Amino acid sequence: MILVTGGAGFIGSNFVLDWLAGCDEPVLNLDKLTYAGNLANLKSLEGDARHVFVQGDIGDAALVGQLLRAYRPRAIVNLAAESHVDRSIRDADGFIATNVVGTYRLLEAARAYWSDLDAADKASFRFLHVSTDEVYGSLAPGAPAFTEGHPHAPNSPYSASKAASDHLVRAWYHTHGLPVLTTNCSNNYGPYHFPEKLIPLTIVNALAGRPLPVYGDGQQVRDWLFVADHCRAIGRVLQAGRVGETYNVGGCNEQTNLCVVHTVCDLLDALEPRPGGQSHRALIAHVPDRPGHDRRYAIDARKIERELGWKPAETFATGMRKTVQWYLAHPDWVRDVQSGAYRAWVSQHYGAASAKAGA
Ligand code: NAD
Ligand code: DAU
Repeated sequence: MILVTGGAGFIGSNFVLDWLAGCDEPVLNLDKLTYAGNLANLKSLEGDARHVFVQGDIGDAALVGQLLRAYRPRAIVNLAAESHVDRSIRDADGFIATNVVGTYRLLEAARAYWSDLDAADKASFRFLHVSTDEVYGSLAPGAPAFTEGHPHAPNSPYSASKAASDHLVRAWYHTHGLPVLTTNCSNNYGPYHFPEKLIPLTIVNALAGRPLPVYGDGQQVRDWLFVADHCRAIGRVLQAGRVGETYNVGGCNEQTNLCVVHTVCDLLDALEPRPGGQSHRALIAHVPDRPGHDRRYAIDARKIERELGWKPAETFATGMRKTVQWYLAHPDWVRDVQSGAYRAWVSQHYGAASAKAGA
């Protein structure tokens, strides 16, 4: 069994679904179910005994210790985090609590569990920490993409909290010998993406005829990766990554934000034209910039390709088409996320129970 934290979030739920589609090794899914956690993402696993869901906090040392002793996972994949930069600017408390203190407590619980394993299990145990390219800071136009050796230079409260977690993971390896792996990935997009982030927000606003907010001049650059490709990269690093190493994961796909928004609009113009025939691009609204906004991220993913043979399978064109089509095919998911009904769904289906198999 593997323990996945944050497995009800965007990447976490994609990871759990992909994992169980590809093998029968069970997943213990520990998720606090913040606003970003949505068990409806995992609806297709209802009644599937390979998926055990536990609502809880990675910072709850007693709970995590108890789960590790009871389920004895061979690996932990840590995806739990507060992940939205704009929220971290408004209030960073949850980011420090989960991304820094929570990661520290999870590392300590993992260390206590791992220390007591027999020699063979100890040698094969892995703690895989999922992190972000934002820890490297901002790149000038034309500067080489981030390699794993690029110094950490985080600029937002979010990226500072993720950088802190990366440093803790590194220290638990160097000081305590915990067999860790770290991945630093670029911007993901795809199914189940919460519509506070650029691509899903643009899709759901466009469908509702609402303005499409573009921060500042819209010329900021991100390196976009389809989420299934990220999930495959995590699986590959878990399987064959060298202990103590970090692996950058990216789509080799730099796009300006304005170009991303245009792509969404053009796909919707073709797949779901507006009643009056006007392009969705007419909804674009330039709004004040994000404070401290990083201008450009770009990932050099040659290490993971060279060492582990990983490469993205999707192009931006194929990934974006799949993404827009997924949102068009799942109006109920969009409706429930926007109305907040997905949160009621959790208590209706699971009541006060904190642990459910096959959730
Ligand atoms: P998300 O916000 O969609 O999901 C986070 C999940 O973690 C949610 O289900 C939430 O309920 C859970 N969670 C939050 N605090 C918790 C806690 N204290 N204990 C247990 N669970 C908790 O995030 P995401 O976009 O899926 O990102 C997942 C991870 O990948 C994060 O670590 C993020 O930093 C990293 N990452 C994200 C991207 C991206 O583009 N989305 C890119 C690179 C790295
Ligand atoms: O680079 C990886 C990171 O990508 C992850 O670590 C984060 O968890 C994830 O949220 C994402 O961070 P960004 O800040 O890059 O993503 P977001 O979708 O919030 O914004 C993408 C770009 O679009 C960014 O330059 C800000 C801009 N933007 C965003 C929103 C929500 C807009 O112009 N308008 C918007 O309404």
